[in-house]
Amino acid sequence: MKGILLAGGAGTRLYPITIPISKQIIPVYDKPMIYYPLSTLIASGINEILLITSPKDLKLFQSLLSDGSQWGCNITYAVQDQPNGIAEAFIIAEDFIGSDNVVLILGDNIFYFPSLKRVVDNNIQVTGASIFAYHVSDPSRYGVVEFTSTNEILSIEEKPKLPKSNYAIPGFYFFDNHVIQYAKELTPSTRGELEITDIISKYYALNLLNVIKMDRGTAWLDTGTVSSLMEAGHFVQVLEKRQGLKVGCVEEQAYLRKYIDKVQLEKLASQFNNSYGKYLSSLLDE
Ligand code: DAU
Repeated sequence: MKGILLAGGAGTRLYPITIPISKQIIPVYDKPMIYYPLSTLIASGINEILLITSPKDLKLFQSLLSDGSQWGCNITYAVQDQPNGIAEAFIIAEDFIGSDNVVLILGDNIFYFPSLKRVVDNNIQVTGASIFAYHVSDPSRYGVVEFTSTNEILSIEEKPKLPKSNYAIPGFYFFDNHVIQYAKELTPSTRGELEITDIISKYYALNLLNVIKMDRGTAWLDTGTVSSLMEAGHFVQVLEKRQGLKVGCVEEQAYLRKYIDKVQLEKLASQFNNSYGKYLSSLLDE
């Protein structure tokens, strides 16, 4: 399974913050936003990753993440010239995906997902698509999935004005290799984008869609507005302070997945002369 980290887009909703810098690089409490989805990919057992971004932000990501070998990963890069839609990622990534299955995670989606490994190991199907559903108070801002009382899927809609359910679709999707073909067959929506929900609808029509409801111990945080960005930072701060454990720590997840060993972790820890470095060192003693 390969992983795509989609970190393009114009970030206009966060202007002026994102005029000179990519949205997915700005901090969420103690680390750059991109660390969160990257650590989610690594925690899912994926270390072959393509990061897609805009031409202007490419260098920033390369200087931050490098080739990923410091975390036992292989990170390569591709450019999306214009924000033509999330589903365009599969066309851009065609060569990278090859004949494998693929996970796509959006660079601005932050998860606190303690049961992730178990869920991925037990619930992700090799054939078809697996997506998540998360109960939110404001579903009209997202892709929305509607269920019957027995959890059968009834409909999939992108940003409906009158949502038929409170279950939003987070930006974390698992697809089989057919996704490349389905992406190529898409036509742009009324907002001019190749929509990820159209791909999901295709799998639904083929009866190959698996929707996993995220349990209540999970958090999917929004970073779409300055206010939600601030709240996400506070959420991470509260959890980290209370538990003494980090959320979205790439080095820790790489260590837990055994992509790096103690010696490599020690080397990473020694690069930070601050509380982040101390945290990494503390993992060595556990
Ligand atoms: O966050 C989850 C939601 O993401 C889903 O529920 C929706 O179904 C999905 O369409 C998407 O909704 P948004 O319209 O809020 O996505 P947005 O345009 O904000 O883009 C999400 C991320 O993807 C953001 O980090 C920028 C990146 N992106 C987006 C587009 C359209 C790209 O890199 N390239 C693109 O062409």
